[in-house]
Amino acid sequence: MNFLLNLPNNIVFGENTIDGLGEKVKAFGSKCIIVTGKKSTKSSGALDKIISSLKKSKISFFIFDEVKGEPDTEMVDKVRNLAKTEGVEFIIGVGGGSALDVAKAAAGLYNQNLKTLSYLNKEPFEYRGIPFIGIPTTSGTGSEITLNSVLYNKSKGNKNSIAHPRFQSKLSIIDPTLTYSMPDAITAASGMDALTHAIESYTSLAANPITLALAGKAIELIGQNLVKAVDNGLDKDARANMALGSVIAGLAFSQTGVGVAHSISHPLGALFHIPHGVANAILLPVVIEYNDKTCHNRYEEISVLLGGNMKASEQIRKLIKSMPIPKTLLEAGYKKGREKEIVEKTFQSRSLKKNPRPVKEKDVLDIIRECM
Ligand SMILES: [Fe+2]
Repeated sequence: MNFLLNLPNNIVFGENTIDGLGEKVKAFGSKCIIVTGKKSTKSSGALDKIISSLKKSKISFFIFDEVKGEPDTEMVDKVRNLAKTEGVEFIIGVGGGSALDVAKAAAGLYNQNLKTLSYLNKEPFEYRGIPFIGIPTTSGTGSEITLNSVLYNKSKGNKNSIAHPRFQSKLSIIDPTLTYSMPDAITAASGMDALTHAIESYTSLAANPITLALAGKAIELIGQNLVKAVDNGLDKDARANMALGSVIAGLAFSQTGVGVAHSISHPLGALFHIPHGVANAILLPVVIEYNDKTCHNRYEEISVLLGGNMKASEQIRKLIKSMPIPKTLLEAGYKKGREKEIVEKTFQSRSLKKNPRPVKEKDVLDIIRECM
């Protein structure tokens, strides 16, 4: 048995740990840029807490708050240019996966000369970046600790990843209080993304005993707490356990990769703007049934970890039924007729290689049709 684990440097977890941000980042320098979205980090109070902590520790900062869903490479170029012009020493990403992925790529590519699109198109680069600090305000993407940045690739009309073993954050602060004001629908969708990470990691061809332990714990935590967090966003235990489940799932899948649900959900996001977690939620039960032939035992274990007495796919359908989340691709905004294009783009995904059952074009087509 051989495996390599590439784990993040520092993870700080706990309620109100955000208040210690300033003191913790002093080691990286005295000037930074905060990368975030327009609204939620402001309305939730997360940005104010970050600003106050940085000011207390005399860290100067600039705010880039233009990140939206499905960020493209030009967004990263903007942050890289601003960071260079201002001569910042580290980059803080705060928000959901989009803000964190932009911040991570901007920090990792800080010293590269070409536009970000070149690196998304697989131009090699050496990591000579600056530190990235990840602060999630959702419980789902795991981007605060993963080794890749998912961006919209205009040249291919798809979402792809730039990855580097050293893209991992120097510091991740997982403060569950930052998720308290997350709307129900986002709690549901991001939580289903985290559950899909955990389940696809558990069945990945690259799974090893350590990632199985991590992914299994994440499945348990998310299975027991997702509906509670959706039903009552102020349930502190449910929010803390979801934040924990999400980061543990991130640790697992950053080592193992994911699978065919993620491979299909990226083109669905790129072409129809179906939120990533929603696409995963709809695809997951059908993908489990597809893969069952090759890893039935793993899904039986997952069924136990989820806590119910039905098959894993049935438990997930029941979970989705009880949450404010679209149940079919058509309901989520999919328009019939572009299946071939989705299939083609699905095969550009590296995640397919880690899926436990080999996948052919017809299989992807069948999965999409079943999810409509
Ligand atoms: Fe994901």
